Amino acid sequence: MASGGAGSRVSCGRDLSCVPEVADTLAAVAKLGFDFLCMPLFHPRFRREYELVPAKSRPGAQTRSDLLLCGRDWNTLIVGKLSPWIETDSELTTERRNSEEALVQELNFCAYLGLPAFMIPLRGPHCANLARILLNHIHTGHHSCMFWIHVPLLDPEDTREDLIENESSKQMDDGGNDEKTWACFSGGFSLLCEAIEIGADLPSDTLIDKWLGEPIKAAILPTSIFLTNKKGFPVLSKAHQRVIFRLFKLEAQFIFTGANRHSEKDLRSYLQYLEYLNQNRPQPNAYELFAKGYEDYLQSPLQPLMDNLESQTYEVFEKDPIKYSQYQQAVYRCLLDRVPEDQMETNVQVLMVLGAGRGPLVNASLRAAKQAKRKLRVYAVEKNPNAVVTLENWKFEEWGDQVTVVSCDMREWTAPEKADIIVSELLGSFGDNELSPECLDGAQHFLKDDGISIPCSYTSFLAPLSSSKLYNEVRGCRERDKDPECHFETPYVVRLHNFHQLADPKPCFTFVHPTSDMNNNRYQCLRFLIGCNSVLHGFAGYFEATLYKDVTLSIKPETHSPGMFSWFPILFPLKQPIPLSSGDNVSVRFWRCNNGKKVWYEWSGHVRKHIPYFSTFFFSILKKNVLSCNMNKKRYKTVIFLSDIFYKISQDKLTPFHKSMLQYAGNDDHDT
Ligand SMILES: C[S@@+](CC[C@H](N)C(=O)[O-])C[C@H]1O[C@@H](n2cnc3c(N)ncnc32)[C@H](O)[C@@H]1O
Repeated sequence: MASGGAGSRVSCGRDLSCVPEVADTLAAVAKLGFDFLCMPLFHPRFRREYELVPAKSRPGAQTRSDLLLCGRDWNTLIVGKLSPWIETDSELTTERRNSEEALVQELNFCAYLGLPAFMIPLRGPHCANLARILLNHIHTGHHSCMFWIHVPLLDPEDTREDLIENESSKQMDDGGNDEKTWACFSGGFSLLCEAIEIGADLPSDTLIDKWLGEPIKAAILPTSIFLTNKKGFPVLSKAHQRVIFRLFKLEAQFIFTGANRHSEKDLRSYLQYLEYLNQNRPQPNAYELFAKGYEDYLQSPLQPLMDNLESQTYEVFEKDPIKYSQYQQAVYRCLLDRVPEDQMETNVQVLMVLGAGRGPLVNASLRAAKQAKRKLRVYAVEKNPNAVVTLENWKFEEWGDQVTVVSCDMREWTAPEKADIIVSELLGSFGDNELSPECLDGAQHFLKDDGISIPCSYTSFLAPLSSSKLYNEVRGCRERDKDPECHFETPYVVRLHNFHQLADPKPCFTFVHPTSDMNNNRYQCLRFLIGCNSVLHGFAGYFEATLYKDVTLSIKPETHSPGMFSWFPILFPLKQPIPLSSGDNVSVRFWRCNNGKKVWYEWSGHVRKHIPYFSTFFFSILKKNVLSCNMNKKRYKTVIFLSDIFYKISQDKLTPFHKSMLQYAGNDDHDT
């Protein structure tokens, strides 16, 4: 039942609604090439009765024996399906009670058999009771079984939005839609994921994007959605193919349901077609290739000021095909601007690489000088004594007297002369989070009055995102003897993969070099209009940097430097997922604070519902000691975060405290 990655076979199952003889059926579907079988655990029409005698005490086995298959087959080849008559959220008391009992019975029997997955259909807008029982079941056992919540890709709610204008406020009065309610319950339970059923009609691209941010483990393909090509084989429309390609990237498993509709071919032809698509999926780009294996993997942001980086870390930086060529281009353009052609033999520009690492920016600068036919005297300043060894070797073997290696913190260096150009790369995924502003401010005094800093500016960006996957990853970071929520109070560098960005990124903090204003504290309030029903799990952070004039580096999706992989985005997680409706406004305030010893971020925010009664706050309580950056022997803390508290209150129940918070949140309108 293992799902495959790029290059490997796609994992496919066969869904049957009635399996009279399990061993033979399993053998038959395996012979057709399927990897697993989805089947009901109890006879689908056997409505158990738990309330009324005599049906309540019906004698005999309630379903087939586990002895019909060996344990290994149950553990690896069978996905159980909940009986279709079970309605745990029914308004009819007897039906609800019987359904509750039957659900528990089936969940327990599934655990007894040791199935790898159990599929549960989500039937309507109300699923709170189903979620409650399921989560109790997960809490009370040591389960390894995954629960695949079967949902249609084209939600009836979504069709309604497309068709009926101004309908959305009614949804809110209804208490939200099923998937949103579900997402709120499921946030934090990595055993819960989704099996989406793809119908003949597909939703809009925006809704598909939204879906693909969900934790999708399987896709159900009814045979009815297949077309027939000239040779009589089943094929999918181009639009369906695009969805399938995206599902391949999520390593989803596929389940075929329905009768064979291509009578001249057997069911194998559906599998062969999917495998054909798998083998002919669009080639990954350089970024995707580099990021392979890092998808949704949380990493602590590097702190090159506090820590001395390892050789291998520099080696990874140096593999980037774009970053250094952009720096070379920036230095080249800058040299041409600063040195007229008639001075090319006499004018020697002083260029200082600040934070030279193992020397790639020195090499890029030397190449630029050669390309521009301009003369350069270079200083390579680096505070990591280990990397200085590499720089000294470069000097001995290659650079000679043209380069002076300086083993020193740039803020403490007494430069022998002033620089025409300072070149640095002290940028983190959120631009300033590796303390580039503080370092460059400390070095600015040895830049000539008309000197140039490369980069000359950088800006961070924020966008709200939904990702149960990432939420669960952060939740899974729990450690013994630590506050279980402390992992939500720190950002992560992560190759965002199974997520949905809820609005376009907006600029947050900008820094310019050189600068006359060395106060690096910042405050920004950003407001995002949410375009679809979803759940907020945190914020994605990016940066854009201007190296020189129009030579830039960017990791913001819209302007991403093609092929550059030195930086993954940064994630600021929320402790508490917050349900959102289309039309809601998410406001977030970010502060960058500095008290002379420490640098940290604080943030808070709130969600204004698109109907007037409700507001949701997630606001900050300052918690120190999360990230720390050592600037020399002093310790600089980058406290990133604050907790978020989530209240949903109606206006008439406001306490004075809530009222003051509401007023506070209301100011956002003027800030943005
Ligand atoms: C992100 S790395 C970039 C290294 C190299 N320029 C490259 O592109 O591979 C930043 C480098 O700056 C150095 N660094 C950070 N702060 C510094 C400071 N205040 N003074 C000198 N070097 C510093 C770090 O040790 C690290 O080698």
